[in-house]
Amino acid sequence: MWLFASFFAAIGILATTINVTEAKFDYHCNLTAKGNPKFPDNFSFGVSTSAYQIEGAWNEDGRGESIWDEFTHKFPDMMDDRSNADVAADSYHRFDQDLAALKELKVNHYRFSIAWPRIYPTGDISSKNQKGIDYYNKVIDKLIANGITPIVTLFHYDLPSEIQKFGGFANPLIINMFVTYAIECFENFGDRVKIWNTFNEPIDYCKPGYADANYPPQINAHGVADYLCMDHTLKAHAAAYRTYRSRFYEKQRGKIGMALNSRFFYSHTNDQEAISRGMQFNLGFLSHPIFSKTGGYPPAMVETIHSNSLKEGRISSRLPRLDGKWKEIIKGSADFLGLNYYTSRYIKRASEPMGENPSWDRDYDCDAYPDETWVRGKPFWLYCVPEGLEDILKYIRDQYGNPEVIITENGWSDDGDLEDDDRIHFIKSHMQAALNAVNDGCNVTGYTVWSLIDNFEWQRGYTNKFGLYAVNLNSPNKERTPRKSAKYYRKVIETKTLPSI
Ligand SMILES: *[C@@H]1O[C@H](CO)[C@@H](O)[C@H](O)[C@H]1NC(C)=O
Ligand SMILES: *[C@@H]1O[C@H](CO)[C@@H](O)[C@H](O)[C@H]1NC(C)=O
Repeated sequence: MWLFASFFAAIGILATTINVTEAKFDYHCNLTAKGNPKFPDNFSFGVSTSAYQIEGAWNEDGRGESIWDEFTHKFPDMMDDRSNADVAADSYHRFDQDLAALKELKVNHYRFSIAWPRIYPTGDISSKNQKGIDYYNKVIDKLIANGITPIVTLFHYDLPSEIQKFGGFANPLIINMFVTYAIECFENFGDRVKIWNTFNEPIDYCKPGYADANYPPQINAHGVADYLCMDHTLKAHAAAYRTYRSRFYEKQRGKIGMALNSRFFYSHTNDQEAISRGMQFNLGFLSHPIFSKTGGYPPAMVETIHSNSLKEGRISSRLPRLDGKWKEIIKGSADFLGLNYYTSRYIKRASEPMGENPSWDRDYDCDAYPDETWVRGKPFWLYCVPEGLEDILKYIRDQYGNPEVIITENGWSDDGDLEDDDRIHFIKSHMQAALNAVNDGCNVTGYTVWSLIDNFEWQRGYTNKFGLYAVNLNSPNKERTPRKSAKYYRKVIETKTLPSI
C-alpha cells in the first residue's frame, strides 16, 4: 500500500504547488449558452444509482455474495474509511424513501442496477432466487405507477463471487453466463423495462480490477488481463444485444446500450494526434467496435499494442483480436450510447515511458493532466470541465453518425453540505453543455445526475458525497434530506430550462 499512499502524497504536493482551486465557486464552472434556452419537450431528466452502492441487505432474502462484499469484508483497509455497503442507504428496505425523493424531484427516469447475486446468488441459473426477482418487480411497478421510466443496468461491478472463483471476466465463459442472466431479466422485467444498459463503465472495473489490483478481484496483470476483461465484456454485451433482438424485441420493443465513461481531451499545442489517441484509448476502446462504420478496436490501440507485444517477445498481441465473426456481431450492437461524463484533461505524448511494462498506460503513451484554472471537487480527479461534455457529444456525433446518446451519469462530490452551490454550478453547466449539443444537432435524448442519494463510493467509502439527497447514515431510519441542488434540479425539470442560480 505504500506505493498508493505515496501517490496520493505526491498529488497533495502537486496540488499545493500549482495552487489548485478547491471548489467554493466563483466563475470557471460555467458554460455560455448557445441557441434555444429550452430543452426539447421529450428530453428526459433523471437520476442514477447502483445496487451495491445503495441497497444494503447484502445477505438477505437469498442474495449471494458479490466480489465487492468479499473485498470490503476481507480488506477493509482498501476503503478510505474502512467501510462497506452491508447496509449503505438500505434501499432494499427503504425503496419507498427513494421513491418519495424521485417524486419530489419530478424526474422522468430513474436509472438503477440489478444485483446479479440477488437474481442468481451463485451467478448460475441453477441458483435462481425468486425473492430477488420479486424485489425488482416491486421497484419497477412502483416507478411505473408514478410515471417514472425505469432505465436498468444489468451489471454495475457486483459480480457473484462464485463466478470470480473461475476467473470472472478473464474467463470467456462469462459471455454465456451473462447472457443467461440477461435473458432472465428480459423475461421477468422486459414487459415494463424498455431501456437497458448491459454494463456500466467497463474501463472502470477492468483496469482497477485486473490491472492495478485496487478493486476486486485485485489482479495485477496490467496490459494483459485488463484487455481480456474489456474484450469479454464487449462480447457479452453484444451477445446479450443480439439475443434481445432475436428473442425479445418483437414483443418488448425496448432498446439496449452500454454506459461508457470517458473524458474529453485538449491540447495546449494543438496536437490533434494526441487528442485522437486520448479518445481512442478511452471512449473509443468500446465505442469504436460498436458504433464506428469499420468496427473492431480503435486503430491506434490495435497497432500500438500489437507492435509493443512483439517487441516484448510475445507471439501475439496482448489486445485480443476481434475476428470476422465477432467483429460483425459487435458492430451496431447498441441502440444508444450511454455516456458517463465527469471531467476532462489536457493531453500530450509522453516524453518517457509511462506506467509499468506492459500496461495500458505504457501502450497509451500519453500524459494527461488538468488545467490549473479548473475548479476541483473533493476527489483529486474531479475537475469541472463542462465544455468537455459538449465536445465529447460533438465527437460522438461526428465520428459515429449521430447515434442516440443518453447521458447516463454526471455528478459532483463534496463533503456533504446541504447548501451545495458547487454541485448546482456543476450540474447547471453540464446540462448547458448537453443543451448546447442538442442545439448543435447532437442526438442527445436524456441527462442523468449521479446520484439520487449519497452512497458507497467504492474505495472512497462514504467520504465522498454525490447525492442530490443527503442520507443520514447514523440514523436507524436513514432519512433522505434534499440538498439545495435537489431543489434546483426540480426547477430545471419543471421548466425544461436552466434557471439562474
Ligand atoms: C423529440 O422531439 C424532437 C423535436 O422537438 C424531434 O425532432 C425528435 O424526433 C423527438 N425524439 C423522439 C425520440 O421522439
Ligand atoms: C437519433 O438516433 C436514433 C436512434 O439511433 C435514430 O433513429 C435517429 O435517426 C437519430 N437522429 C438523428 C437526427 O440523427
